[in-house]
Formats: sequence, structure tokens, C-alpha cells
Amino acid sequence: MIPHDLFDLLDYHPHMGQLAFHDSDARFKVLIAGARFGKSLAAARDVMRDILSGESRGWLVAPTYELTRPEFRYIRDDLLSRFHGNVAESGYPPSLNTSWGAEITCLSAHTPQGLLGDEIDWLVLCEAAHIQRDAFERFLRARLATRTGRLIVPTTPHGHNWIHELYQRGLSSNPGWRSFQYATWDNPGIAPAEIESARRDLPDDTFDEQYGGAFTSPAGRVYREYQRGLHVVEHLAPPDGALIFKAIDFGYNSPFACLWGAFDRDGRLLILREHYRNNLALSLHAEVIRAVDAEYEDAGCEIGPGFADPSGALERKTLRDEGVHTLPADNRVSGGIEIVRRRLLKAGDGRPRLLIDAGCTNLLREIDGYCWTETSKGDRLPHGAEDHALDALRYLCVALARKVDWKNAGTLW
Ligand SMILES: Nc1ncnc2c1ncn2[C@@H]1O[C@H](COP(=O)(O)OP(=O)(O)OP(=O)(O)O)[C@@H](O)[C@H]1O
Ligand SMILES: [Mg+2]
Repeated sequence: MIPHDLFDLLDYHPHMGQLAFHDSDARFKVLIAGARFGKSLAAARDVMRDILSGESRGWLVAPTYELTRPEFRYIRDDLLSRFHGNVAESGYPPSLNTSWGAEITCLSAHTPQGLLGDEIDWLVLCEAAHIQRDAFERFLRARLATRTGRLIVPTTPHGHNWIHELYQRGLSSNPGWRSFQYATWDNPGIAPAEIESARRDLPDDTFDEQYGGAFTSPAGRVYREYQRGLHVVEHLAPPDGALIFKAIDFGYNSPFACLWGAFDRDGRLLILREHYRNNLALSLHAEVIRAVDAEYEDAGCEIGPGFADPSGALERKTLRDEGVHTLPADNRVSGGIEIVRRRLLKAGDGRPRLLIDAGCTNLLREIDGYCWTETSKGDRLPHGAEDHALDALRYLCVALARKVDWKNAGTLW
């Protein structure tokens, strides 16, 4: 069924990719596409036919409530602008009830127990590539059974996880399933310059996944942009008067790692030095750190903030008592890895935005051994024999990606 009249009513003009998606009357539709393709809008407008058809119950499910918001807003705005007075909205969980008996509820797949119970007529799995397979297979799939409900899966891909299997199901002659795959640039409303700028700024496989809508391979090195000849320099020195940053990953049986870094005049991050030791008391690490800091101060540099593993509150306090102050680092792994990878890319002058002193031998060994692995649940995780200096590197890059005037932010640390 092509609900053209409905789309006219909503003043919605789907672009070619969206049109192909709407044209399909498959019961299970998997819409894989790059960011800003128009997945959320298409999913919301596709279920509008169910919502307006009379009594019906539908769920928007995402990894968190927050991620159901785009689809929910499209539906809410459509209903409120045309059927004002016949639609009641409630806040928790976010939901809408219409006077003709349509119910729309947002749910988080983070708490799958909450997904039991009702029979539903339609289900939109928003950003499903970040939902656990279990949440769908054990808690959601059966909700659709009694009412032969429809399933819509609008998502940007995330490696070869279970969504790739759903996608493949819709490519074969599996009855009821249909899959679609598009790139960001299939949305004619997105400026080509915007896409080209992302192509320049992002690692190739991230761009292919996030903009090309492609299922990229999780195999291989995490920091594949890293090349010894490009990123490693003998005797890196900070510019005169530089602000010296530190990042620390705690360890006792496994190594304690501390990195020192500074920006050069072009805003390139220089990793100047490492301290990497296990089986040492924190007070002795603090002694080493104070001595290195003093060397930089003697050379005319200024000691800036240090960032340390946020899970080590006690360790941070002990270091503070020993005169080494740190801020809790941001420890979100995959976002942090992306920030490091962007720094490893070449800038306009053909040189990367991150250089590492050749003396940081442990950091360099860890970078080489850091690879992606896939868990039994299909998630992609970084894995290396050791990742202590790498954690410190990530803390530093993430902290320094924030727009803070560190030189004048002394009160922060
Ligand atoms: N057919 C269309 N007509 C007009 N605007 C559209 C159309 N399709 C998408 N858009 C616009 O494109 C932008 C992206 O749409 P939408 O949020 O649905 O994309 P998305 O693929 O879900 O993005 P994200 O990856 O951020 O979740 C929005 O501003 C939306 O209004
Ligand atoms: Mg979206």
C-alpha cells in the first residue's frame, strides 16, 4: 500500500530512498542508512497509517528513552498539529493516547523487563544497532505475534552485529522481510559540502559506516591510522612555555601508566614521555611524577591539569595527598577511540595531529597490539594484550578535545 493521500495530508514528500521504503508492504522492514538520511522521519511517517487507522498500540524502543525522541517528536507533532484536542500526551514513559484509541509509547531497551506484557500492532526499533540482540529476541519479538504486528528497524549500522543478520534476512526471499540500505547523500536535503567535510575529518571505515550506511568489518587494528614512520618522532620537545598535561591509568599488578603531553604551535598534540611500571606503591609513582613535572618547570614550561581513571577515586585522593592533582577523566571507550583516531589522521599540512616520542616504547607496543574483537553478543570491543598507556592516551585526547582555555582554567584543578 502506498499511503500517498496520507503523505499529502501530512505535507510529506519522501525522497527516492524513503519512497522505496514506504512502497514496500513487507511486515518487517529493515532500514539501514547513514546519519541524517531521514530514517527517523520515514519510520514515523510509515507507522502513521497504523496510528490513524483506529484502535492500535505501538512502541518506539531505543537503547535509551532519549534515542526514541526523534521518532516520537515527528509523530507527536503530526498528531498535535492536525488532531489537537484529540491527543493526550504523558511524560513517563513518554506516550500519546488519541481519542480514537491509538496508543504510542516510548520504551528503553536498557531495561528489557519493561518490554514484557502488551500485544502491539507496530514496533519501531530506533537506532537498533545499539540494542542488545537479547532485548529483541527474548522480550520484543513475541509482542508482535498476536496482532501480526509490523516491525520497522531504522538504524545506522554498527559493525557486523545481529542487525546485519536482520538486514540479510530482508535481502533473501524470506517472506515478510524486506531490507533497504542507503547513504547520507541519498537525502537530497543534505549539503554535499557537509558530507565532504566529514569524509576528510573521519577515519575511512567510520565514514563508510556513519555516512555510507555500510556494514564495515570489525576486524583488524583499532588504531589502523597509526604508522610508525608518520607518528613517531625522536626527542620530541615541548615549545617554550608550553602547558604540560598528564593522563594516568592506575594499576598495581598491571602497569600504572602516566603520559605527559603538550600542544605544539600548530595545535598538534605531542606525547612527550611515559612512566609505566607495575608493583609500585602510589607514593612512589607520585615521586616520579613530581620529579618529571619539576624537570618541565625548570625548562620553562607550566604544569597544566592531569586526567586520571574516574573509577580510581581513592587512588586520585592518594595522589592528591602526595601533591599530584588530577581531574576524573572521561572513560567512554568507543567515543574516546574515535577522538584518538581523528588525531592520528593527517591534517591539511600532510602531518598527523598527534606525534609520539620514540621513548614511549610501552605506548607504542600497546598501539600495535590493539585490535577489535567481537563478543558472543555481536558487540565490537577493542582488545589488546595490554591497554594501560592506551587508556591514558584516550583520557588525554578526550579531555583536550574539549574547548577549554586550560591556561586560564587553573581553578579547575
Ligand atoms: N522527505 C523529507 N523532506 C524534508 N526533510 C526531510 C525529509 N527526510 C528527512 N528530512 C530532514 O532531514 C533531517 C534528517 O532526518 P531524520 O532525523 O529523520 O534522519 P535520521 O536518518 O534519523 O538522522 P540521525 O542519523 O541523526 O538519526 C531532518 O532535518 C529531517 O527533517
Ligand atoms: Mg534518527
